[in-house]
Amino acid sequence: MPSQNPKQNRPAHSALILGVGSFAQSLGGALADAGADVATYLTRNYGHFGPSLVGATFSKESFPSPVPLIRERKIAVVIPQSIDWALQPWSSDLVNSGAGIFSPTGEAMRIERERDFARELCGRFQIPFPKSFVAANRIEAEKILAAHSHPFVLKNPLCSPTSPIHTVLCETVEDTRAWLRHVNYAEGVFLQEYLGRAEAGHIALISGGQIHSLVTNQEYKYAFNGNMGIVAGAPLGGIVERDEHDKYGLARQLIHPLLPWLRQVNYHGPIQVTAIERDGQWHVIEYNVRIGVTSGPMIMRMLEEPLESILKTARNEKLKLRFQPAVNYGCSLTLAGYGYPFTQIRGPQLPLEVQGAFDCDVWWNEVAANPDGGLMATGQRIADIIALAPTLEAAIAKAYANIRKLRVVGSYFRSDVGQSLWPPGTV
Ligand SMILES: Nc1ncnc2c1ncn2[C@@H]1O[C@H](COP(=O)(O)OP(=O)(O)O)[C@@H](O)[C@H]1O
Ligand SMILES: [Mg+2]
Repeated sequence: MPSQNPKQNRPAHSALILGVGSFAQSLGGALADAGADVATYLTRNYGHFGPSLVGATFSKESFPSPVPLIRERKIAVVIPQSIDWALQPWSSDLVNSGAGIFSPTGEAMRIERERDFARELCGRFQIPFPKSFVAANRIEAEKILAAHSHPFVLKNPLCSPTSPIHTVLCETVEDTRAWLRHVNYAEGVFLQEYLGRAEAGHIALISGGQIHSLVTNQEYKYAFNGNMGIVAGAPLGGIVERDEHDKYGLARQLIHPLLPWLRQVNYHGPIQVTAIERDGQWHVIEYNVRIGVTSGPMIMRMLEEPLESILKTARNEKLKLRFQPAVNYGCSLTLAGYGYPFTQIRGPQLPLEVQGAFDCDVWWNEVAANPDGGLMATGQRIADIIALAPTLEAAIAKAYANIRKLRVVGSYFRSDVGQSLWPPGTV
């Protein structure tokens, strides 16, 4: 017998998260609060402590495949953090396991995995997409640059958390030429025309052949205040605005035209578009098939019934999203550790002190517990602090009040989240 959820008087469901760190802890925490029985299959070798606080955790070493766990624990829904699950030897067993997957599968995943496929789709449905090319090696890439004298952003052609290339922003032709001498061509390179900095994102759930807008969002991806430094692997902060009516038109312009394709490939799951405005027009720079590590935890806190929304989407059922009243904005801040954003640098494990009680969500990323009960920062992304509020100002203030309760030597956070790049279209 499934146990009863005392809050909603409904049978509990079991959810299995594939991930680590603050993503797994935050999703697990939100779903546990909604009455789910939560477990995490740890997909990477760090960030195990956070998820262990919200449910059982299982390592790859002890469980080469998560599929037996799905049977044993009667898992209703699996929530992947990234798309690399689809490349694992157990991926088809997972798809056939009977559990719902909170992600599109098969052909539908190509919209994130293959950048050139996303470009082609946009062409097919007349969605603006920057001029882009795929090159197999440096000689081809330099020929493209010679023929098209633009600055290009350099990206992996095939997206994966383990890609040899992480996005490199080049703002001039000379920047591009310099970086083309330095990138790893093992999987080739995707060159996408640089469109400037007026960026925004929009996230929706697709289920039952319909698009349901959730939020419009911003991610602060430059490592340092004032949007300076490099674009880090994951953002330093983010904001989301509840936006089921798509007030900025991002879904209407950049997601809705895809509807025939979405239905054709039986797409169900989250979709996120990242876009840049140039000359008064939004251009798609990327689609993701996930709610994302920055926005996902905030979305979970905005929904009235996060578990039900995830389950129904995984099952491709008709959705009716309900939002928490007066939770209109979220702010996420990351506490970065020694050496961030340069991943080549490694520091020692360092004590993490918490001064006072938190009054918003704090999710642990690269943190471990000491035998004496204290906490240690074990890597460059330490924690994500997430606050939700009726106004953007209140959400930001709350997140900052809480991140200031954390102390790790050599750590830092951006102190200017919300002061640029918002509202969408602002630089
Ligand atoms: N064509 C572009 N023009 C300007 N900035 C870009 C462009 N493409 C990417 N960027 C910047 O780099 C970031 C990461 O690129 P993205 O395509 O989202 O790849 P990923 O998230 O896989 O690294 C974007 O959020 C944006 O800030
Ligand atoms: Mg992106």
